[in-house]
Amino acid sequence: MTPMDMLLSRASTDRLKEPAPSPAQLTEILATAMRAPDHGRLQPWRYVVIEGEDRPLLAERIVASMARVEPDAPAAKIEKRRSRFATMPMIIALGMHLRPEHKIPLWEQEMCVAAGTMNILNALHATGFGGVWVSGALVDDPVLATELGLAAPAKLAGFLFVGTPEGVPHTPKRADPALFTARWHGQPVTFGADNKD
Ligand SMILES: Cc1cc2nc3c(=O)[nH]c(=O)nc-3n(C[C@H](O)[C@H](O)[C@H](O)COP(=O)(O)O)c2cc1C
Repeated sequence: MTPMDMLLSRASTDRLKEPAPSPAQLTEILATAMRAPDHGRLQPWRYVVIEGEDRPLLAERIVASMARVEPDAPAAKIEKRRSRFATMPMIIALGMHLRPEHKIPLWEQEMCVAAGTMNILNALHATGFGGVWVSGALVDDPVLATELGLAAPAKLAGFLFVGTPEGVPHTPKRADPALFTARWHGQPVTFGADNKD
């Protein structure tokens, strides 16, 4: 697979089985996150790795968080969350070590973490693993973040479910880049993607 084939064939999946990356593989995969553009070299990436018997413990904290932030969530949704967090081969909580006082704007710090996460997803795919980035209202729960070691001003950017894909991941239809690109010649551009009527 060429590097371009690799990038163009990645697809998120939550149909994941064992094995998850070994500690050595994970170190290399996470090293790719630290190649993300990082204005001011603030190094805002933080990764909390949950595996094995710690997963049910996390799942209970997730359910407790839902009770705080989504008190009206139906029982089926709560059980689905509990089951996913308890059984995914590996979960990585994506932490953002934010510095609100710094001259680099917060949004740039957050984008740095996002860029790192994209590198992780690509590195997982390149090494035969897979995953998906998930979030939800609980990402904004300060109690859950604190329980994970991400107390404010740090924040959660979501979770990665990580493992070995079961079968070939379903690839959603991908957008045509021409619809999202325009050449600027001195006047405001318009995009094909916005001219659907
Ligand atoms: C910050 C962020 C949060 C996301 N949260 C969820 C989520 O909670 N549930 C979900 O199904 N997809 C979520 N997604 C989308 C998936 O990660 C994924 O991009 C989507 O399933 C499309 O798959 P693709 O990456 O192959 O295009 C999220 C994406 C981002 C960037």
